Amino acid sequence: MEAAKEYKIVTLGEGRVGKTSLTLKAARNVFHEDEQSTVNANFLIKEISVQGVSVKLNLWDTAGQERFRALAPNYYRGAKGAVIAYDITDRSSFDRVVSWVKELGMQADKDICIVIAGNKCDRESERQIPKAEALEYARKVGVTHFDTSAKTGKGVEEIFQELARLVYET
Ligand code: GTP
Repeated sequence: MEAAKEYKIVTLGEGRVGKTSLTLKAARNVFHEDEQSTVNANFLIKEISVQGVSVKLNLWDTAGQERFRALAPNYYRGAKGAVIAYDITDRSSFDRVVSWVKELGMQADKDICIVIAGNKCDRESERQIPKAEALEYARKVGVTHFDTSAKTGKGVEEIFQELARLVYET
């Protein structure tokens, strides 16, 4: 049998948007209403099958709070993939996505694969970023956008599956 392929993946995004929750849902199928803010970073593994091959995503879930901002390059350096997350009910968190995409474009691996998570889509009635705007932005920068909810699980398998496919094929 072919050996599992392993890839370094990083999560990025403003504090409280749900990065830890997304990775926990993906890796362990759990969700905590009272998830605490990450200090430095967490590490989790998510295994996915891509075209019959076992792909291991080594997920570095970074801390979004401003005081940990300077640590991020340590985690995205050498990463093959990134999940950039925002909270669909929080405009400033979407603005932060734009700055992460720019920073990765300048500082990360040239061929890093990026997916964007519009998280907390279970709170659709409080949405601040129109879906069309998010999709248009994603199209412009050439990345795939998913609506996700770490709470209900919507889009979670899909976004990691897509990222696994992208890093595997890149
Ligand atoms: P930092 O570690 O500070 O960067 O935060 P984070 O981006 O890792 O967010 P975290 O996963 O800690 O979640 C923050 C809060 O949002 C917690 O109270 C979660 O329960 C909640 N949360 C996360 N994802 C969702 C979601 O999809 N829907 C809802 N309704 N709440 C969510």
